Amino acid sequence: MCGIFAYLNYLTPKSRQEVLDLLVTGLKRLEYRGYDSTGVAIDSLDNKDIVMVKRTGKVKVLEDAIKEHFSGGEYSEPVLTHMGIAHTRWATHGVPCERNSHPQRSDEGNSFVVVHNGIITNYNDVKTFLSKKGYEFESETDTEVFAKLVHHLWKKHPNYSFRELVEQAIQQVEGAFAIAVKSKHFPGECVASRRSSPLLVGIKTKTRLATDHIPILYGKELRPHGQTRELPVLPRSDSTSEFMPEQKEVEYFFASDASAVIEHTNRVIYLEDDDVAAVRNGILSIHRLKKSLDDPHAREITTLKMEIQQIMKGNYEYFMQKEIFEQPDSVVNTMRGRVRFDGQSIVLGGIKDYIPEIKRCRRLMLIGCGTSYHSAVATRQLLEELTELPVMVELASDFLDRNTPIFRDDVCFFISQSGETADTLMALRYCKQRGALIVGITNTVGSSICRESHCGVHINAGPEIGVASTKAYTSQFISLVMFALVMSEDRLSLQQRRLEILQGLSKLAEQIREVLKLDNKVRELAKDLYQHKSLLIMGRGYNFATCLEGALKVKELTYMHSEGIMAGELKHGPLALVDDSMPVLMIVLRDPVYVKCMNALQQVTSRKGCPIIICEEGDEETKTFSSRHLEIPRTVDCLQGILTVIPMQLLSYHIAVLRGCDVDCPRNLAKSVTVE
Ligand code: F6R
Repeated sequence: MCGIFAYLNYLTPKSRQEVLDLLVTGLKRLEYRGYDSTGVAIDSLDNKDIVMVKRTGKVKVLEDAIKEHFSGGEYSEPVLTHMGIAHTRWATHGVPCERNSHPQRSDEGNSFVVVHNGIITNYNDVKTFLSKKGYEFESETDTEVFAKLVHHLWKKHPNYSFRELVEQAIQQVEGAFAIAVKSKHFPGECVASRRSSPLLVGIKTKTRLATDHIPILYGKELRPHGQTRELPVLPRSDSTSEFMPEQKEVEYFFASDASAVIEHTNRVIYLEDDDVAAVRNGILSIHRLKKSLDDPHAREITTLKMEIQQIMKGNYEYFMQKEIFEQPDSVVNTMRGRVRFDGQSIVLGGIKDYIPEIKRCRRLMLIGCGTSYHSAVATRQLLEELTELPVMVELASDFLDRNTPIFRDDVCFFISQSGETADTLMALRYCKQRGALIVGITNTVGSSICRESHCGVHINAGPEIGVASTKAYTSQFISLVMFALVMSEDRLSLQQRRLEILQGLSKLAEQIREVLKLDNKVRELAKDLYQHKSLLIMGRGYNFATCLEGALKVKELTYMHSEGIMAGELKHGPLALVDDSMPVLMIVLRDPVYVKCMNALQQVTSRKGCPIIICEEGDEETKTFSSRHLEIPRTVDCLQGILTVIPMQLLSYHIAVLRGCDVDCPRNLAKSVTVE
């Protein structure tokens, strides 16, 4: 949902061309967050103005435009200090076009330019206020009001520092934002802030930093949000506690996520809501207006564990393809250090202290969106079986719409790859306010869901860059299975069942490798399907989630209609869709619902349907019902969904390629949905 990137070098010679290359590379890493339009802003040659280049379309289009725009030798002259901002957009307010692309500006003279991720919900009020002051708006974006608001404050309070201007502007806006602001009146400075949208600061110095913390500077809260009165100037806080690198040469990176900075530095600070980070004279300081009781005195400089290879495509055509093929390793990483196959024990360090409390709870609620929600559907039955607790599975948006009753003795799981999905995050806050225990299941260390949970499990799938989620799904699935196993550790009657699941987990990586060998066969099936308009995917029991997830993958990647159908519901309506031309895929495995699935299969074939069947290796009887089938290895029933979803991931991938779709960037979508 938009990616922002800013770069500032202090006393570190870099040409404008190098700065632009850095900005464009940063945007490429963030492109998965939105790819409707892009833009950059840097200093002009005389340092007196700001030059912007904006384009509709992907970063590549911007890159070409930049080459054309900045072609002279002057752009390769090194400058000691420079600051640039960049943006890749997923449109929320205003259609994708150059006018609505970021950076948005305060005035024709580009006094203040802003890149923004999120939504300013009271932008209409601020716009009305500023219009009365004579401001004319040139875009339909909510972001433009922010640039103009800073400009208005600057005219009103010419003595304010850049940081103070932004600090006061953020108090007047509501909603979600991560912003980076550049100004021609404050050259070589950058101010950035966040509220409910992610933002981190990367620090690069020649030698390792001597400190692991940056003290926070506090001011006084001057007024409630939403008022548009001007503020008095804040007294400057104790400047000795600012972060001063030991060496003068320093580079700072501001980015929506770590993948954009990892090739430059692994030392980052994750900003918290309402932090204002400012760089001036090469010194970084972090400010907050209000100190709450549980606030730490400093922000930690953390070391990223990510490797650069993890965010590169390697020999694969697309990130999604790479991520599908990473699953034998990613599932092992999810279990690493947690599952002891010899001693048959499982330890989930992030929640172990909370297990007694969880065992006493009234019910478990699993809440997420899209694919993450499907991982909850996939594991609900096992959780009910091994915890013997009521388990509710909820789509975050619907859960909020219903004002669902939540109690102090509820345990609520929030499942999210990005850890930033707005609906899931708001559902988390809703449950937290009502006193429930909050458990985060995320793939992104430092994400909002991660930080706002009482406890949680990192799924450790590694960075997922393809917009369509694949390896995160199988790792979420396994994390929830591990949780179910932890909850049943002391239940004698369940030991046999636990043992078979643990044995299933131990063979999983090898079995996923086997399933991935079906790739060529799946590609051939995709050739039969890619020109069709629709694909029905049917199954039940443990494999119903695969039907939902498979249909979602087909829809988002191929733009074909697809529906995941609970086989038990077939005769209650969907059977009417079946004829000899309707493509159908059925999952029929030798599990407790086998006989029922066979009934559904017969209902389909007797309506002249000729389904593709996903069945177990060597199941000759089931195979006789169709000439097209994919055989997968046998595993314990509750883990089948991990093996059945992989052919679906491959199928949607191949259909998308055959239809000429952009696999990693499906139209109208973005990876991290930080707006409602
Ligand atoms: C589909 C997909 C989405 C996400 C959903 C939730 O392939 O990726 O449906 O699963 O937007 O995102 P997270 O898991 O980041 O909360």
